[in-house]
Amino acid sequence: MTGATEQLEKLEQEILAAVSGAGDERTLEDVRVSALGKKGSVSLLMKGLGGMEPEERKLMGPALNGLKNKIGDAIADRQGALHEVALEARLAGERIDVTLPVRPERKGTIHPVSQVLDEVVQIFGDMGFAVAEGPHIETDFYNFEALNIPAEHPARQEHDTFYFNEREDGSRMVLRTHTSPVQIRTMEKQEPPIRIIAPGRTYRCDSDQTHTPMFHQIEGLVIDETTHLGHLKWCLEEFCKAFFEVNDLKMRFRASHFPFTEPSMEVDIGCSFDDGKVQIGVGDDWLEILGSGMVHPYVIRAGGLDPDRYQGFAFGMGLDRLAMLKYGISDLRAFFEADLRWLRHYGFSALAQPTLPGGLS
Ligand code: DAH
Repeated sequence: MTGATEQLEKLEQEILAAVSGAGDERTLEDVRVSALGKKGSVSLLMKGLGGMEPEERKLMGPALNGLKNKIGDAIADRQGALHEVALEARLAGERIDVTLPVRPERKGTIHPVSQVLDEVVQIFGDMGFAVAEGPHIETDFYNFEALNIPAEHPARQEHDTFYFNEREDGSRMVLRTHTSPVQIRTMEKQEPPIRIIAPGRTYRCDSDQTHTPMFHQIEGLVIDETTHLGHLKWCLEEFCKAFFEVNDLKMRFRASHFPFTEPSMEVDIGCSFDDGKVQIGVGDDWLEILGSGMVHPYVIRAGGLDPDRYQGFAFGMGLDRLAMLKYGISDLRAFFEADLRWLRHYGFSALAQPTLPGGLS
């Protein structure tokens, strides 16, 4: 009997040595199988318990069970330690030094539309405007009705709207033809004072050198109790000077008509068309860049606000057009062709964030 106990102790030492010697989780698993697996050394000894004399079994049973538990615990401990080591090694291997300079072979660039969007957000952000968003698939109410464009209004024709199929109630959703619906959605959600810009995609069924079926606009809306035309004029002048980076930019506010503003104005900037190219800030020609006006009382009411108490201004402009003008890009369609050569030529460095103090472009 003492022989058997000695043998057990020897086995224990061997197995524990193998456990602590296992250098990886796989080897450790092999050790486990060879001791505690179906045909493992300890399991075989346990199987033998049945054929033992009761006296011997009384001694060997608890001893074998103890051994089994001891080995199990040792394996679990070792497994934890090995896991830790493997994790450390992996983390060390995957470490990235974010302070390293960018590799010059990386050629990704920022698309001109994204660049211009960042620039515009910077400028209006500095004036205290927040960015608002709205859905691209709109109801007739938000895209037209609430903006004072009833069903028979001629402006509907101008918009070349993409309509969805009729729904059960006969109504049809549209792809928003402008960002102006965000005006209504913002007024519904927010108490004045309101000061937002709403950049985003817009859609019209139109395609040529200066039109694509999907394009980008940016809307602006300011509503409170005292905002007047002088504020509109100052705000847009400041924007244009900052955006085109021309301090003495000539500007012209020309009377126009939009259903959702009264009075309405289109804004032109001074430029030259000499030699077949547009140059901003020089020359005696004019270029229209945006539409604007005082928000129509009907629109304020449609947004759920009282037009006798609140007033303000709105404006809208094409982001792609701004990009074309500022960066001398002549064909709008190329914006959306995803041609890498075009992107490398007209794209902007991903690391040069446009900021007012640091420079926009
Ligand atoms: N929604 C107009 C368009 O798509 C642009 C516009 C003009 C927006 C005047 C305005 C505005 O907010 O006041 O043509």
